[in-house]
Amino acid sequence: MSRGAIAILSSENLLHNLNQIKAAAPSKSMIVMVKANAFGHGIRSTAQRLEKHVDNLGVASIEEALVLRKIGIKCPITLMEGVFEPDELLIAACQQFHVVFHDATQLQWLKGLTLPMPLKAWLKVDTGMGRLGFSLDEVQDALNILNDCTFIKKPIGLMSHLGCADDPDHPLNTIQLNAFAELAKSWKGPKSLANSAAIYAFQKSQYDVIRPGICLYGVSPIKNKKASDYNLKPVMTLQTRLISVRRRSTDSFIGYGATYKCDEPMNVGVIAIGYGDGYLRSLSHRTPVLVNGKKCHLVGRISMDMAAIDLRCCDDAKVGDPVVLWGDGLPIEDIIEGSPIIANELLTSVQSRVNFHWTLY
Ligand SMILES: Cc1ncc(COP(=O)(O)O)c(C=O)c1O
Repeated sequence: MSRGAIAILSSENLLHNLNQIKAAAPSKSMIVMVKANAFGHGIRSTAQRLEKHVDNLGVASIEEALVLRKIGIKCPITLMEGVFEPDELLIAACQQFHVVFHDATQLQWLKGLTLPMPLKAWLKVDTGMGRLGFSLDEVQDALNILNDCTFIKKPIGLMSHLGCADDPDHPLNTIQLNAFAELAKSWKGPKSLANSAAIYAFQKSQYDVIRPGICLYGVSPIKNKKASDYNLKPVMTLQTRLISVRRRSTDSFIGYGATYKCDEPMNVGVIAIGYGDGYLRSLSHRTPVLVNGKKCHLVGRISMDMAAIDLRCCDDAKVGDPVVLWGDGLPIEDIIEGSPIIANELLTSVQSRVNFHWTLY
């Protein structure tokens, strides 16, 4: 009997979500985000399932892109943060990676360089998020440098990113949308602004190329909404099983730090998953779980390999019974409700000691 912690990944839901996104942004091209190990789902297996359905895959580094080429992924791949070293430009050109230029240092690396193949480039502009990108008054000079570079394909793309799209009423959205629209008016190349939240919240942000990430994995891109509000379905169901069920008497303490004391006789279960699997310790106390499909809650602190459950809502639960931590039947949005944790954090935290298993198409 293996330990039991398993991430069940649904190919069907992944493709369902992709189709929902296509329906929300008809006829748009897409860079689909598989960075950060496909938001924790496994970059190789996710990309293999997506490749023939998407135009382009988005990664954070050339290492991630090369992992995909190594397993035979042939579609264009975009380096969302561009290159980190000048030598990567040659690799990017040879491997047909599309490159984002966001900083003057990266433009410096083009000087005196010749590449054997043309390179597809995006110019990233900071329209107000205050993360990556040229400022609005630097854009023209940066564009001139890229335009003067013979091995850079023309026309060059324009890209920016929204800092608050998950909160559609936030005033920064209007500022960023307007700044981008102003630049877009005279821009000759493709334009890309929308992440998942923007695809759904601001139709006018869709431009030519959308960049879905979290919605593809079946998580609501908008705060205080559920994935089901957008007909998105969870790709990952994190599951384990009960490895102990014991009757605890009144005043029994549960787990490290004795932070939970039973206020009546009750069954307490122990499940085989903990923060060493990526089930974050900060989820301790009251986080919902599904035991045999019934909603129960954690009690006490999550430890490295285990966590405890109040089984009063599922009195017949026994050792071996399945326990869902999030996913099918238990939206990940319910797990993070009222906490500063975001779903991306949970998904990308799941460790490789958890068994990953894709369902068939
Ligand atoms: C530049 C860029 N575009 C798109 C995305 C996708 O964002 P989201 O997951 O919110 O759709 C991200 C983040 O993952 C990003 O950094």
